[in-house]
Amino acid sequence: MKLDIIVKNGIIVTATETVQADIGITGEKIAVISKDLKPDSGTQVIDAKGMYVFPGAIDVHVHLQLPFSGTISADDFENGTKAAAMGGVTTVIDFAIQQKGHSIMDAVKARRQEADEKVCIDYGLHAAITDWNEATQAEIKQVIDYGIPTFKMFMIYKNEGWMADDGMLFQALEETKKYSGMIGVHAESMDVLEMLIERYAQEKEKWGAYAHTLSRPGYTESEAVQRAIKWAEVTGGRLYIVHMSAGESAQYVHDAKERGVDVYAETCPQYLLLDDSVFKGENGHLYATCPQIKKKEDNTQLWQGLVNGDIQVIATDTCTFDTKQKAMWKGDFRKIPFGLPGVETMFPLMYTEGVGKQRFSINHLIGLASTNPAMLFGMYPKKGTIAVGSDADLVVFDPNKKVTLHAEDLQTNCDWSPFEGWQLTGYPKTTISRGKVVVSDGKFVGESGHGQFLKRKPVKKVDL
Ligand code: URP
Ligand code: ZN
Ligand code: ZN
Repeated sequence: MKLDIIVKNGIIVTATETVQADIGITGEKIAVISKDLKPDSGTQVIDAKGMYVFPGAIDVHVHLQLPFSGTISADDFENGTKAAAMGGVTTVIDFAIQQKGHSIMDAVKARRQEADEKVCIDYGLHAAITDWNEATQAEIKQVIDYGIPTFKMFMIYKNEGWMADDGMLFQALEETKKYSGMIGVHAESMDVLEMLIERYAQEKEKWGAYAHTLSRPGYTESEAVQRAIKWAEVTGGRLYIVHMSAGESAQYVHDAKERGVDVYAETCPQYLLLDDSVFKGENGHLYATCPQIKKKEDNTQLWQGLVNGDIQVIATDTCTFDTKQKAMWKGDFRKIPFGLPGVETMFPLMYTEGVGKQRFSINHLIGLASTNPAMLFGMYPKKGTIAVGSDADLVVFDPNKKVTLHAEDLQTNCDWSPFEGWQLTGYPKTTISRGKVVVSDGKFVGESGHGQFLKRKPVKKVDL
């Protein structure tokens, strides 16, 4: 068998196993896993002695070049996927957001035109449903057959024209259930939020950016989570809570799972590692995202949810706005572009904070960051594991490398980082995307257009 690449002497880590072996790659696929593989004249050998070899991380929640909050998120499909690769992420899933009066497929085609020639790693799309009518309902099967079995509905964002009311959510759960699709929800309580935002707007000079967190307490998320779970429970549809930020929400997911509801959840590094004190700093407005970064107690409950299996996925909700874009707020917390950079730092942060601080095992981390997302989002075993026949999406990871995070050293177009100055131990060294080395010794060596659109499959039964 001709091997194009051998990753030699690494410690291979999957969600269930840790073994020392070589990985042989032919073309885009893992061809063999064995001890002591022999190269021939054309084989590139990557020395992974003393390193871990992981399946590439999968970030199922990114918004690259998203028009939002009166601007466009600053990492486009090219740079955003470069940044992903630098951070050990080999697959991202972005969103095609239906415009009212238009079909979902119109949005999908438009988004693919923006992405296909730019992406440096493989990517998929979720379809965001904003306009529920007979035509949309009839389109659901077509969208799933096209390779998009996962949808997103926003319980807020009325002004953006994205909001789905409970009736829409209910019907979408019913329809997607027929074809083993899944509805992701951005769960926040629109009416209470609007009222609280209005209340704090009266005192916006007094509170500054802190009003952003005051107006979005934990219950504005957890109430909506509970409501969405109810609609999943009575329809039997599959529900996925995106970017879960409140500890109480994790409790509702836990209780629902105990009752047998088909519900899953994701959280993000910002909800695990930061708390609302960030809004008190001089540049507090930079941290505004949606839903809001909550309190220390929420951090603790979310970590607990990751450990005990109530939360299955770590993703980032990457939606990069630089300091110039964030400055558009001009002292009014209602005008801050919401969103944070994240895809590049997700995996190394979670390694240091999760594995390094012994909150969970390295195999558990691979589950959260790679295998579980691949399983839930219809990509397994093509993605999300290291096995013969799987895509050669691999990360050679140096567990001893010490890195102090600085925005200026990162690939992202963001000129600030929510994790500026954080000290990490462990960082990706080499990233391979479908058999092609795209990051070598910490340098990006890939090219735009290498990434492919992933046609994902509906998942009949999730075993998580
Ligand atoms: O603030 C955020 N997260 N912006 C992106 C849109 C969303 O809600 O996911
Ligand atoms: Zn959202
Ligand atoms: Zn998002």
